Amino acid sequence: MKVISISNRKGGTGKTNIAYNLAVELSQKHSVLMIDMDPQMDLTYTSNLIMTTTVDILDVLYNQVTVEKAAVALKNNLDIIKGNENINQYEKDDETDDLKALLSEVKERFDYVIIDHPPTMIEASVQAIFATNIAIIVTQPERLAYKNIEAMMKDIKLINENIDVRILINKVDMRRNLTTKYLRHLQAEYSNILFTEYISISSAFPTSNDKRIPLRKLSWWPKVLTQLRKVMKEIV
Ligand SMILES: Nc1ncnc2c1ncn2[C@@H]1O[C@H](COP(=O)(O)OP(=O)(O)OP(=O)(O)O)[C@@H](O)[C@H]1O
Ligand SMILES: [Mg+2]
Repeated sequence: MKVISISNRKGGTGKTNIAYNLAVELSQKHSVLMIDMDPQMDLTYTSNLIMTTTVDILDVLYNQVTVEKAAVALKNNLDIIKGNENINQYEKDDETDDLKALLSEVKERFDYVIIDHPPTMIEASVQAIFATNIAIIVTQPERLAYKNIEAMMKDIKLINENIDVRILINKVDMRRNLTTKYLRHLQAEYSNILFTEYISISSAFPTSNDKRIPLRKLSWWPKVLTQLRKVMKEIV
């Protein structure tokens, strides 16, 4: 089982959309569990989870329920643990087990765990990063996003020095001069951890959000889905 965190302290870079569609693509061949760590609960809403589900990630973190019991099947091979809007108030005490230990109980059941993080470092994210094998920092080719990467990587490595940190560039618009500039910067600085494939800016994302479906269910096959599948092949 590989645990993948989709993370960045910068908001709106596309974390939730990437987490969801990456999970859907992985679930074509593998068994996947998604976990919503964000109090905004965007991943939970994106997944169209029937809201009658009562247990959520906070119950898991407080050891009230097992990962297995909290996981709700969305379809064949794809499960989710629902988010909680108060997760930012979560504090771990010494009595409770780490998320890492809790997840190890389902290591035979799931091939991948995809965790969607909020744009801030809350204690639940710290737990998640500690349990993570691969952290994907989703960024954009622009100055503020670029400047934030170094701090983000430092935070992650401080929590888990064995983690494999990768950078994924999203919302790439080649018609903008600044895009080329920041792509060049990123390639120069992070060549060894950057995904070779980036994700273009595309109306496929807002359209799929609006229709509440994953990219692969759109009536056309968007280029960004081909790009995302290449990213997926770099991690499987
Ligand atoms: N490649 C893309 N092209 C165009 N729009 C995109 C792309 N990726 C994401 N978006 C849009 O950007 C917005 C933010 O996306 P998303 O919610 O996935 O970001 P996020 O990083 O999870 O945000 P937050 O930090 O609030 O959790 C959404 O409206 C989404 O449709
Ligand atoms: Mg999000």
